[in-house]
Amino acid sequence: MSQAVTVVSAANIAFIKYWGAVDLDAAVPCNPSISMTLDACRTRCTLGPHPDGSAATEDLVLYREGETDLAPATEAFAGRVRQHLGRLRARCGERDFVRVATTNSFPAAAGIASSASGFSALACAYDAWLGRDSGATELSICARLSGSGSASRSVMGGYVGWPAPDAPEHPAYPLHDAAHWDLADVVALVQTEPKRVSSLDGHRLAATSPYFEKRLAELPRRTEQLAGALAERDWTTFAEELEREAIDLHLIAISSTPPVFYWKPETLAVLERVRRLRDEGVAAASTMDAGANVHVICPRADAEAVAAALRALPGVARVIEDGVGGGPRRVDEPVG
Ligand code: DP6
Repeated sequence: MSQAVTVVSAANIAFIKYWGAVDLDAAVPCNPSISMTLDACRTRCTLGPHPDGSAATEDLVLYREGETDLAPATEAFAGRVRQHLGRLRARCGERDFVRVATTNSFPAAAGIASSASGFSALACAYDAWLGRDSGATELSICARLSGSGSASRSVMGGYVGWPAPDAPEHPAYPLHDAAHWDLADVVALVQTEPKRVSSLDGHRLAATSPYFEKRLAELPRRTEQLAGALAERDWTTFAEELEREAIDLHLIAISSTPPVFYWKPETLAVLERVRRLRDEGVAAASTMDAGANVHVICPRADAEAVAAALRALPGVARVIEDGVGGGPRRVDEPVG
């Protein structure tokens, strides 16, 4: 186990959202979710021997932002990585401290959640480091140990459900591979600084919304509709349920105590533009995670038209064109 291993894993965008937890620390969700694993927005993570060998007293966590040099990660970031590694050790039995070097293909401050790709990459790299070849189910459980529920979905490519019904330990499960439907995710960045209220706090507050129980009661129908539309590649039904679901998440956030407002005026301008794009005959539907940025989902053939329209909006700082991807993989180039 002396050879460093490098894994690339992408973020994912939820079509049906995880919002509210039965057990927040263990990331056990109140409701099932459905997501699409992305391709271009990814984390690359190299895990190898600690330079201090057996004298090491904690894991060394390094981070590279864009083209800068590899440098020690911030305490907050290193702390979450060490906690995840501690939980992976407890599950997998290996004790030695390691060196972790990680980098994202997108700026950390871009407002795209990097925890899903980051913790998925770490779980997969740790598994490879131990010389195990665990399947996606075990890797999903390992990624969830980070406390980032969405990370449990990023260990699989294509379209993913989470958690699998009746499976112990709440793993994600594959719904369809990436080839099933070539959907793009065109992300309009209207906020590039980190959001003020974390997803963790949003989950914690969700149950204080007077509409949370109503949401939970409605979700089985919506989830079934969306899953059916995904299976049939029925764009109209899919787009309708996708947009309703995102608005519902933000309705819960806004009506929580205290209220959480993730949207900015520019968010509404993007949502309005997407509606107009549809009037112009472009297939496009919007969704938002816990933040102000808008993910516009569309068939790949419409992605260019969507990206051009979003770039032309004054409040949009940057547009990232992504789409469905194939899931984590080992690569040769270490993070250096
Ligand atoms: C709104 O607890 O997985 O994105 O760890 O910050 O990525 P992070 O969040 P997590 O909650 C995700 C909340 C969501 C919806 C979703 O991805 O299902």
